[in-house]
Amino acid sequence: MLPYKVIACFCLLLSCYLADGQEKGRSPGKEVVQLGRVRLTVELDGEGAPVYAVNFGDRAVVLPSRMGFVLKEDSLFYRGFGWKGVDRRSVDESWKPVWGEVATIRNRYEELTVHLSKEGAAGGRLLDIVFRVFEDGVGFRYFFPGQPGLKYFVVEDERTQLAMAGDHKTFWIPGDYDTNEYLYTTSALSQVDNSAMVAASTDIAVRVAPDRQSVQTPLMMKTADGLYLNIHEAALVGYPAMQLHVDRKSFVLSSALVPDAVGNKAYLHAPFATPWRTVIVSDKAADILASKMILNLNEPSAIVSTDWIHPMKFVGVWWEMQTGKSTWAYSDSPDSLPLVPNGRHGANTANVKRYIDFAAANHLGGVLVEGWNVGWEDWFGNWKEKVFDFVTPYPDFDIREVSAYAAVKGVQMIMHSETSGSATNYERQMDTAFRYMTAWGYHSVKTGYVGKIIPRGEHHDGQWMVDHYIRVAEKAARYGVMLDAHEPVRPTGLQRTWPNWMACEAGRGNEYNAFSNGSPPEHETILPFTRLMGGPMDYTPGIFKLRNYTGVPGRQMHSTLARQLALYVVFYSPLQMAADLPENYAAHMDAFQFIKDVPVDWDDTKILEAEPGDYLTIARKGKGSADWYMGAITDERERTVSVVLSFLDRGKKYKAVVYKDAANADWKDNPEAYAIESLTVDSRSKLNFRLAPGGGAAVSITPF
Ligand code: NOJ
Ligand code: CA
Repeated sequence: MLPYKVIACFCLLLSCYLADGQEKGRSPGKEVVQLGRVRLTVELDGEGAPVYAVNFGDRAVVLPSRMGFVLKEDSLFYRGFGWKGVDRRSVDESWKPVWGEVATIRNRYEELTVHLSKEGAAGGRLLDIVFRVFEDGVGFRYFFPGQPGLKYFVVEDERTQLAMAGDHKTFWIPGDYDTNEYLYTTSALSQVDNSAMVAASTDIAVRVAPDRQSVQTPLMMKTADGLYLNIHEAALVGYPAMQLHVDRKSFVLSSALVPDAVGNKAYLHAPFATPWRTVIVSDKAADILASKMILNLNEPSAIVSTDWIHPMKFVGVWWEMQTGKSTWAYSDSPDSLPLVPNGRHGANTANVKRYIDFAAANHLGGVLVEGWNVGWEDWFGNWKEKVFDFVTPYPDFDIREVSAYAAVKGVQMIMHSETSGSATNYERQMDTAFRYMTAWGYHSVKTGYVGKIIPRGEHHDGQWMVDHYIRVAEKAARYGVMLDAHEPVRPTGLQRTWPNWMACEAGRGNEYNAFSNGSPPEHETILPFTRLMGGPMDYTPGIFKLRNYTGVPGRQMHSTLARQLALYVVFYSPLQMAADLPENYAAHMDAFQFIKDVPVDWDDTKILEAEPGDYLTIARKGKGSADWYMGAITDERERTVSVVLSFLDRGKKYKAVVYKDAANADWKDNPEAYAIESLTVDSRSKLNFRLAPGGGAAVSITPF
C-alpha cells in the first residue's frame, strides 16, 4: 500500500509547489528524461526542495525523493531553492579500458543539469545537480559552482534520499566506517538491523558501526515483482564514502556519509563535484553484472602511457602465514634486541626462491612476499604510528639475491607494504618506499590498512583516507607501479582513471577461511552483485587443500576444489592470486592446469545465468584470443548447469575441458573430489554438469 500513499503525497506536494512557486514568481520547472525503459523525473517541491524519481517501464524504482545538504554555512541547503534552468545533452561514445571484462565499452546516456539558486548573503548560493540517464539506470551528482556565496565550506550531512517502492529483499553488510569484511545478510528492508552481526564479527580487527540501521553500498535488492536494483556510488574522490540509513517503516534510504575525527563529513572548496550516486536497474539479474554504468561515470585514464600496466597471476609467501604454518614476524618478541629468530619466519630467502621456482615453472607472472620487512613483531593493535619503514628487510631475507633470482627466472616480484592503518607514516615514507622497490625491480605493490587509522580518529572510509588511497595510486603511477590495496574504502570504478590501481580487497576474502570460521558458499554468489560492482577484488582464490590446512579442529573451506577454479572466471580481477602452497598444487597438477591457462584480461564477457545468493555462470573470451573460459558456482544447494555455447563462432570446432565436481563431491564431506573431462563442442552444443552443494565447475574452450 505504501507506494501509493507516497505517490499521492508527492502529487500533493507538487500542487502545493506549483501554487507556491507561481505566487513567488519561481519558474515551475519539471523535467522528464527517458532512455529505453528508464525514466527520470526532477522538480522542486512546495518547499523549494529538489525531488527526483526513477521508473523502469511502468514500475517505480525510486519514489519521489529529496536531495541536498546540511552545510555549516547553511543548515537548510536542501530547500528554499529556485529553479534557474536546465541544460541537456545526449552522449553516445565508446572507449577501450586498459584491461577489463570486455574490449570496448559503450557509454550512452541522456544528461540533464538542473541549475538551482538560493537567496542569501553575497548574492545567494548556487547548486547544480547533474543527472545521467542510461538504459540500465541513473547516476546523479551535485556540483557546487565557483561562487562568491559559497567558497570554502563544511558538509555536516548529505540529504540524498532513495525512497524504495516496497519492502525489498536486500543483500547487505553493516554500514561500518572502517571495514567491509562482513558476511552478507539477506533480509527484507524492514528487517535491517546490523547490531548482532557487528557484535558477532570478532574476526574483524576494527568495527565501527554506530547506526544499527545503516548498510554499506553496493547494496543489492530484489523487488517482489522481479526487479533487480543496485545502489552504489561512482568516482569517490575528495569526499567520504556514502553508506545508507534504512528507514524500516517507509523504506526510504538516506545517504549517511562517513564522518571525520571531529564529526564533520567533508571540507570542500567550490567548484566541486561530489561522487555520483548510482541506481542500476533491470528485470534480469545478469544485466546488473553486465552494467558498465559505474565505469562510465568515472573519468578517463589520468595516466597517458599505460603500456607498463600488465594484468597477471601470482603466487605468494602468504597462505602459509594465514594458516599458521609460518609467521610474518622474524621473532616472537619485539623487545629482545637484536631480534631472536623464532625459526618459523616465512619470508626467508630459500623459501621465497621455492615460490619463484614454482611461478617460473608454471608461467605465473609474479611472487608476493609478506613479512619480508622489519616491524611485524608488534605490527598492529597498538595504534602505534611508526611501525614499518617499508625498506628494511629482516636479516634472513636477502633482497639482492631474491631480485636477481627472480630476474633470471623471468618472474616479477610484488612488494608488500602493510601500513597497519598508519597512513601518516606511510605518506612520509612513500617516495622512499617506491624508489626502493623499483630499484630492486618490483613494479607492483600490495598495501594494507589493518587496524585503527592514523591520523587518529579518522576512519578507513572518511574523506581524509579516501584522498590518501588516491594519493597512493597517483604516486604509484609516477613510479610505474601497479597497486593492490587491502582494507581500503570499497572501489567506485576509479580503476578507469587509475588503471594501475588493479585491485582492492575491501571485502571478506578467502583468507577468512584460514583465520576464522570463514564464509558459507552463498557468500561468493552475493559478492559479484555487491562488492564487485565497484571494481576488481583481490579475493585470493585457488585453495586446493580444503581441509586440515590449519591446526584448528573442524576448520575447512566452504568450497569444493572445482569451485576454486570457477572463481577465476566468476570474480573478475586483473590480478589473480593462486593462493595455495606449491606443495598443495603439486598434489593436483591436472586441476592446476586451469589456473595456468585462465586469462586475467578479457575481450568479452557473457553472464549466462545469475541469481544473487543462489548461483552464477559466466563465460569470458580471452584478450586477443579465440579461447573461451567458463565458471559456474552455486550456493549450498546442488545444481545442474545446462548452457548452450551459442557465444562460440558458428561452424568452428572447439576442445572443451570441463573441470567439475565428482558425482559424490560436496563442500562439507568430500570437497577435493573432482573430475576432468574433454569433449568436442561447437556453437550448438549444450554443456550439462552438476554442481555439488558448495561446488562449481570451470571450463576451458579452445578452437582446434
Ligand atoms: C590483511 C590482508 O587482507 C592480508 O592479505 C594480509 O596478509 C594481512 N593483512 C597482513 O598484511
Ligand atoms: Ca583483509
